[in-house]
Amino acid sequence: MEELWSDVDDYFDHELAQPDAVLDHALAASADAGLPPISVTPTQGKFLQLLATMNRARRILELGTLGGYSTIWMGRALPADGELLSLEIDPSHAAVARHNIARAGLDDRVTVVLGPATETMAKLVADGVKPFDLIFIDADKPLIDEYFARSLELSKAGTVIVVDNVVRKGEVINDESEDASVRGVRRLIDSLSHETRVSCTAMQSVGSKGYDGFILAVVKGT
Ligand code: SAH
Ligand code: DHB
Ligand code: MG
Repeated sequence: MEELWSDVDDYFDHELAQPDAVLDHALAASADAGLPPISVTPTQGKFLQLLATMNRARRILELGTLGGYSTIWMGRALPADGELLSLEIDPSHAAVARHNIARAGLDDRVTVVLGPATETMAKLVADGVKPFDLIFIDADKPLIDEYFARSLELSKAGTVIVVDNVVRKGEVINDESEDASVRGVRRLIDSLSHETRVSCTAMQSVGSKGYDGFILAVVKGT
């Protein structure tokens, strides 16, 4: 089945997307630098871009930059005076991403901020930055619940929050899992089960990255 999921992803990508040398280069440069092949897929990248467009995003926050592949997809939805902050803990990942983002012509709008996402987010809250229109949570999964809580502090009514990798081949329903990522996701789902500030759902997905899924949340009006 995994091969079929991947073939269908390739088919949709081939039929529905234009050839894109910048995105291809971003993946190749990431692979050459030894980064793990865990970027979003092309169809997921386009999905994120469409969410940004649908929400007329002017300010985007990303947790987990890697080589900047998802960053470029979302950054392309920004107007010329828009801004995307992408938080990354690994200096070598950030260096590859900055190169890829510059090559995409997005370095005027996109900033990669080096450091642990919790610390950078705390600083953004303390600095009183303007709320974001779209937040993509895709950093280390054991802290995923904390990232969501912090994201709410950087949101306003209408902010869209997407959380990647919440199905984990179905392990999300294993309440005895000792995997720190699964436990992090389960803490997040538990807190969302009584979170009144957002309207949310979770979608399972299959494709060239196997079986996983994401949470989609929209921050409610007050
Ligand atoms: N969003 C990227 C993939 C991100 S992979 C894409 O789809 O193209 C996850 C990234 O999160 C890795 O680069 C990893 O170094 C980074 N990361 C891990 N722990 C982190 C932390 N505590 N703070 C910020 N980034 C972190
Ligand atoms: C991993 C991280 C991701 O964000 C992802 O989409 C897939 C895998 C990982 O750390 O293995
Ligand atoms: Mg991910």
